[in-house]
Amino acid sequence: MSGVGGLGRRRFVQVAAGTTVMVPLLGACGGEEEVSAPQGARGEAIVPAAEVPVGGGVIVDGDPAVVVTQPEEGTFKAFSAICTHQGCTVTNVDTEIVCQCHMSRFTLTDGAVVSGPADEPLPSVEVMLDGDQVVFA
Ligand code: FES
Repeated sequence: MSGVGGLGRRRFVQVAAGTTVMVPLLGACGGEEEVSAPQGARGEAIVPAAEVPVGGGVIVDGDPAVVVTQPEEGTFKAFSAICTHQGCTVTNVDTEIVCQCHMSRFTLTDGAVVSGPADEPLPSVEVMLDGDQVVFA
C-alpha cells in the first residue's frame, strides 16, 4: 500500500468547472482505439471527493487512468480517461470532458459524445463514495 489511502501512485489534475487548461498527461494517439471499461480493485481509493469540483471533474492518471466527475453535488461518476477516437488520454475537464488531440468532447454525466470526431462514449467505471474518498465499486 502506498501513500495515504493508497493514493501514492496516482497523480491528480484538478480542473474547476468553467476553466480550460492544457494538461500534460501521458497519452499517445494512434489508430482506431478499442477502449473497454477499465476497473480498479474494489474499494481502491481513486481521489478524495473534495478534489472533484461540482460541475466539473478530475483526471486521475493511475492504472487505470480515469476521469471522475461530479455533475451534481454528491453525485460522482467515472469514465475511462482514454479517448475512444484514437486513444489519447483526455486532457481536461470544463463543463465537459475534453480530448484536445482532436477536440472530442464528452458529457460529465454519462461520458456520451457531445462532439466528435469520437463517435463512441467513454466507457463508464463503477465508483462509489467511501467516507471522504471516491473508490472503485
Ligand atoms: S484521440 Fe482524437 S479526439 Fe481524442
